[in-house]
Amino acid sequence: MKADILLGLQWGDEGKGKIVDAISPDYDIIARFQGGPNAGHSLEINNVKHVLHLIPSGIFHPDKLNIIGNGVVIDPAVFRKEILELGPPVKELAKRLIISARANLILPGHRLLDAAYEHSKGCAKIGSTLRGIGPAYTDKAGRNGLRAGEIFSPVFREIYNARLKNHLNLLKQFDFTFDLADYEAGWFEGIEMMKEFRIMNTEYLIHRMASEGKKLLAEGAQGTMLDIDFGSYPYVTSSSTISAGACTGLGLSPKMIGEVFGIFKAYCTRVGSGPFPTELLDNTGERLRELGLEFGATTGRPRRCGWLDLPALRYAIMINGVTQLFMTKSDVLSGFSSIRVCTSYLSGGEKCFELPFDNSPIEPVYTEFPGWEAEISRIRDYDELPGNLRNYIRFIEEQTGVPVTMISVGPGREETIFRKV
Ligand code: GDP
Ligand code: IMO
Ligand code: MG
Repeated sequence: MKADILLGLQWGDEGKGKIVDAISPDYDIIARFQGGPNAGHSLEINNVKHVLHLIPSGIFHPDKLNIIGNGVVIDPAVFRKEILELGPPVKELAKRLIISARANLILPGHRLLDAAYEHSKGCAKIGSTLRGIGPAYTDKAGRNGLRAGEIFSPVFREIYNARLKNHLNLLKQFDFTFDLADYEAGWFEGIEMMKEFRIMNTEYLIHRMASEGKKLLAEGAQGTMLDIDFGSYPYVTSSSTISAGACTGLGLSPKMIGEVFGIFKAYCTRVGSGPFPTELLDNTGERLRELGLEFGATTGRPRRCGWLDLPALRYAIMINGVTQLFMTKSDVLSGFSSIRVCTSYLSGGEKCFELPFDNSPIEPVYTEFPGWEAEISRIRDYDELPGNLRNYIRFIEEQTGVPVTMISVGPGREETIFRKV
């Protein structure tokens, strides 16, 4: 088996959900390997929009197996809500969705701590989605986690209470009021919902299926520029969003990795705080937000918008070993008279191509391209795309050395152009 990986190359929201759904027919297993309900993956099927937070984006294909991997942090309350919103009976969904026993749980205390930490940071806040991600991964790394496989334990409640006691002690240092009881009830309902599903050592299952020739698609969450190691720390999430994270987050061996599909928007967005070299704080940025409907799928926050950043894209390609590029939201650029792309930075007046580790200020240097007028959402053949868009794609390929093999021209499953190069 070769396991392919699909992940975001920018600051998240590149359109991963849509594309995973569109290419799921080529796979047997679709598996999330990191992140948690901070993710919001949108798919549009027959004009109906769905947003997934924890459940892999292959779930709308009834014949596919979906796995929530050990690298994911699961909030049971969010899980339950998402399962109920999906539509099919729980028994049916339980046939096609399996949870790793090793996945850590997000506890109610984690959510409270996330909010308390953010509140205490004031204007230095990360802009967290407040889903408890940071504190849950902190407890995992600190070996104080509570894992999915433990929900069947006769002493589960005791362990939960011990963890809660720790969290309440930590919360005492903050001037922060909360209503725990309200949230706990939904959390325990979620635990009961999780018991309807198979919770197992999914790494064995994956390797068994691999030996039978089955194909797996690993679905990333967030994006490379939000990676705990390689993103703009501390303005990052708390997991490994890069291709290596698919190995640790699912138990894949590096030998199994086949293609690494890197997704990027034809421009850039970021939600939350942190550096964004090509951010547009003017009418053009506002126009991108309006045309691209750039509002967070999880929190509804307006996304910051800017031009494509090629040095950052090349960095993400390098770290991930990207073999194919998928460009989304190309349709959003239709109608712009000119389009800019950042090709290098200025740092203290000097030209440079590297992102500074300490987020020190850099200025983007742009190359300008003529835009195109045509509406492109109905186009399915690459050669029918406007010449100026094809030039733009060719430039990206030249600058990155990686072919763009898929172009997304709308949010719908079928609004996708596959290209042989
Ligand atoms: P994800 O987190 O990477 O799955 O991306 P999100 O779902 O958070 O954000 C992407 C948004 O863009 C969603 O609203 C998608 O429905 C939408 N989208 C995806 N691909 C395209 C595209 O090619 N064109 C347009 N106009 N919208 C798209
Ligand atoms: P998908 O999978 C975009 C951002 C938050 C914040 C930072 C840390 O939909 O692409 P966290 O809640 O993880 O502690 O927040 O990361 N962030 C995302 N931005 N898309 C996401 O997921 C994100 N998940 C987290 O806005 O800046
Ligand atoms: Mg998203």
